[in-house]
Amino acid sequence: MPDPRTDQPATRVPSAGARTVLITGAAGGLGRAFALGFAAQGDRVVVADTNLEGAQQTVALLEAAGGTALALQANVTQLGSVTQLAADASAFASDGKIDVIINNAAIYATITRSPFEEIDVDEWDRVMAVNLKGPWLVTRACSPYLADGAAVINLSSATVLSGSAQWAHYVASKGGVIALTRVLAKELGDRNITVNAIAPGFTLTEASYGLIEGAAEYGVDRGSIKRASEPADIVGAALFLAGPGSRYITGQTLVVDGGRQFL
Ligand SMILES: NC(=O)c1ccc[n+]([C@@H]2O[C@H](COP(=O)([O-])OP(=O)(O)OC[C@H]3O[C@@H](n4cnc5c(N)ncnc54)[C@H](OP(=O)(O)O)[C@@H]3O)[C@@H](O)[C@H]2O)c1
Repeated sequence: MPDPRTDQPATRVPSAGARTVLITGAAGGLGRAFALGFAAQGDRVVVADTNLEGAQQTVALLEAAGGTALALQANVTQLGSVTQLAADASAFASDGKIDVIINNAAIYATITRSPFEEIDVDEWDRVMAVNLKGPWLVTRACSPYLADGAAVINLSSATVLSGSAQWAHYVASKGGVIALTRVLAKELGDRNITVNAIAPGFTLTEASYGLIEGAAEYGVDRGSIKRASEPADIVGAALFLAGPGSRYITGQTLVVDGGRQFL
């Protein structure tokens, strides 16, 4: 008879080292960092991006480090594209199952910052399509292949907490990601699938370096921890949310911003 006071929580099946992990937007930046983090645990990684060359470069890095990975070109806004992506990821998995999805692809640094009255309507639609429709479509396409006990991790942003002037489309899209995360958590819970969001603060990636002058110092004084955020800080959160210690955590948003804001 198991002792509920002392037994470890159920591990995910399969556990780290034997999982198939699908990461969107992994041609660089945080997506590439996630890919390296999971590959270092021995997982098979599917690197998806519109930028196939960048995805292939990520795979080359993973393979050079001894990992097993596959680069796929995919556009998260297109149902046909993500349907093919899901089938290819399943075929790459040793058991046909996808164990972890990281919905990371987004339009981010290239967005024009404008007062809300002046935001280009087409740009609003593009941001919503990639940042909010994308995670829904990818999770929907992968649903038939998701392992019992899988983990879905959606990239939101700490800007949702602060608001961020002249960025209404980006902030609204990332707020939508938190809401979507909660709905998917409810709907996938009966398969023991957890769905959580990570809300990073400003983190130094190639994209964000170009966004702000003096990026390395940006907001550091407002944090509890007085240093800039590195991709490794965010990767640790994803490994946790995909790992055995978070089996009973779902529908949540983990803010990873060095204590600049509190939920
Ligand atoms: N870095 C930060 O400070 C920060 C803070 C909070 C949240 N985040 C979030 O973290 C995630 C990664 O950020 P990052 O800094 O690593 O940005 P990034 O380097 O721009 O990564 C986003 C990736 O998504 C790809 N992508 C864009 N549209 C796509 C589509 N339709 N289908 C598939 N892939 C697509 C991009 O390709 P192209 O470059 O070819 O467009 C790019 O490779 C994003 O969700 C972002 O919103 C970042």
